[in-house]
Amino acid sequence: MSYLIPDIPEDAPFSPEQRAWLRSYVGELIKSISAMQSCPPDAPTKPRALFLFGSQSGNAQALCEEFAENLSNDGWVPEVKGLEDHDKIDLANEALVLVVTSTWGEGDPPDNAVGFWEKFSSDDQAKLPNTRYSVLALGDTNYSDFCEMGKKVDARFIELGAERIAPRVDCDLDYEDPAEAWFRSVVTELEKIGTDTFLSSAGSSPGSAPAAAPEDLPYGKKNPFPAGMKHRYRLNLEPSPRDTRHIELSLEGSGLSYEVGDALATYPVNDPDLVDEILSILPFNTKVSVEIKDRGKILLRDALLECCDIRTVTKSILKKWAAMSYHPYLNASIEDDKAVAKILDGIEIVDLIYEFPVDFKTAQDFVAVLRRLNPRLYSIASSPLKNPGEVHLTVARVSYESKGRTRNGVASTFLCQGLEEGGSVKVFVQPTKHFKLPTDLSKDIIMVGPGTGIAPFRAFLEEREATEATGRNWLFFGNPHEATDYFYKEEFDRMHSSGVLTRIDLAWSRDQAHKIYVQDKIRENEEEIWNWLEAGAHFYVCGDAQYMAPDVEAALLDSIRKFGGMDDEAAAAYLEKLRAEHRYQRDVY
Ligand SMILES: Cc1cc2nc3c(=O)[nH]c(=O)nc-3n(C[C@H](O)[C@H](O)[C@H](O)COP(=O)(O)OP(=O)(O)OC[C@H]3O[C@@H](n4cnc5c(N)ncnc54)[C@H](O)[C@@H]3O)c2cc1C
Ligand SMILES: Cc1cc2nc3c(=O)[nH]c(=O)nc-3n(C[C@H](O)[C@H](O)[C@H](O)COP(=O)(O)O)c2cc1C
Repeated sequence: MSYLIPDIPEDAPFSPEQRAWLRSYVGELIKSISAMQSCPPDAPTKPRALFLFGSQSGNAQALCEEFAENLSNDGWVPEVKGLEDHDKIDLANEALVLVVTSTWGEGDPPDNAVGFWEKFSSDDQAKLPNTRYSVLALGDTNYSDFCEMGKKVDARFIELGAERIAPRVDCDLDYEDPAEAWFRSVVTELEKIGTDTFLSSAGSSPGSAPAAAPEDLPYGKKNPFPAGMKHRYRLNLEPSPRDTRHIELSLEGSGLSYEVGDALATYPVNDPDLVDEILSILPFNTKVSVEIKDRGKILLRDALLECCDIRTVTKSILKKWAAMSYHPYLNASIEDDKAVAKILDGIEIVDLIYEFPVDFKTAQDFVAVLRRLNPRLYSIASSPLKNPGEVHLTVARVSYESKGRTRNGVASTFLCQGLEEGGSVKVFVQPTKHFKLPTDLSKDIIMVGPGTGIAPFRAFLEEREATEATGRNWLFFGNPHEATDYFYKEEFDRMHSSGVLTRIDLAWSRDQAHKIYVQDKIRENEEEIWNWLEAGAHFYVCGDAQYMAPDVEAALLDSIRKFGGMDDEAAAAYLEKLRAEHRYQRDVY
């Protein structure tokens, strides 16, 4: 290491000997200060645990925060980090890493973990011989790539030489209990290993801040707030066959707060007609009560209305059903994956009851087979600055035909039709860290949100108006027909006239012979998009994950390739850089 020793001025009142002595003294002084600065910190007094979450809609993140708080009560110094911050994490220097990650798309990482996975799975990733770890995987057994991301991360840790301290647990949508069991198994193993191991390991740090305690709100996930419906109107006009509603709920008195980009989780109530049909074909007395976790003993009808998923049939439900039904075809097919997939295709609980009757001994036995009714997420469509005490949603009612019956989406039908004016729906706010407006108000934003994907962008625009953001705002919206499906037209017209909405590009897919989608509009404007990106714009996508989001990404990459003069690899790296800088954010479902 070299040190720059300042010159002693020519006119300083020193003889040549004094000058030489002073130079040597200052040199030694600089060296010793520098050595002090590079000294390792004092030995840590508390063991450190790094929690990493890969999370799209907040479940994995919330679990990490809860576990970190518990571990800090046990004398650890936990730190919680999102995988989007992977470039600030040196895994080789971490003694204990606890990863909670969900899986999205079709076996893909959640958006905040895309960059992490690219690096972690590459040859550049350093070996991890000094790291102990465990993985909790969140997923949904309805997907064939169940918990794929958690499985891949777990396997990669082993490849890199890390030591697994507790087995991975793969959770279905009812993840709370298995997640808790995973955490307990981690704690048990940590107790066996002893904290000294983690104190002496590189990476333990006395200076790490403890994880922030979650806000102590009276209402939240565990105690959802009954939000009263203030106003609802249809966004699709006659004669559109679609039914998308703008819904305004009151949060008055809840203590709940949200930011634009967050989602609202809603607990639906099942269709009473379907509940009554199921009760009519099962032999139970409707006055019978059943035991439901967190609710205690409640009437069977109420349990089926509010607590149980009375539609979804998973592979594991089918297996349990087969064991009870003695139905020859079902029992003959249950070990054959192809036959099971065929049975599961489009089948619901009511069909199972009709097609493969079971002689349930008690109502509790029936309820025990069903999954818990899970909350559904909706992107928040309002800014709290413009609508204090309220939260707005844009909900498309799901309805389709299967096996000769009309099937109605549980939550969307409840919100669009079942919920009456003045009635309430239980909600909590699901913060979405990966989908946020730039804090610098001078930054430009490009928003791509066809269909219900418009929801967060209505909120973004309201927020940009309220905060008098100086950055430009460009919106891409699309739907089948301009005349019937132009959601929030008056609001956007007003914002366009006032200059809040700098540009709006519209894709009406069925107003002409050939289909036009938002990705086509992006291609039409690719040079301008490239110019905005180069000027620092943030690019947001919300809505359909299956077709729209990949097509938009392909169009974006084309624009980067063409106008950035890049090959495929360089364009992909450019996009990854945007993602890492939080300038390419998606909220797709
Ligand atoms: C982060 C996030 C944000 C979201 N934001 C919004 C939003 O702003 N607005 C919005 O409307 N939705 C939004 N959603 C989707 C929403 O959460 C629900 O998934 C949607 O409303 C359907 O829920 P449901 O209870 O009505 O339907 P469910 O009862 O859950 O039924 C849906 C299921 O029915 C089946 N199905 C649906 N259509 C068909 C078909 N044509 N043929 C065969 N099977 C079919 C599929 O298995 C599907 O999973 C968002 C989702 C996420 C994850
Ligand atoms: C559009 C979409 C795609 C999903 N894809 C998968 C999948 O391929 N495999 C899986 O196990 N779970 C999948 N899931 C389920 C999520 O992993 C699960 O809901 C998880 O609890 C979300 O956790 P998070 O909020 O931390 O992201 C998917 C969910 C959605 C809405």
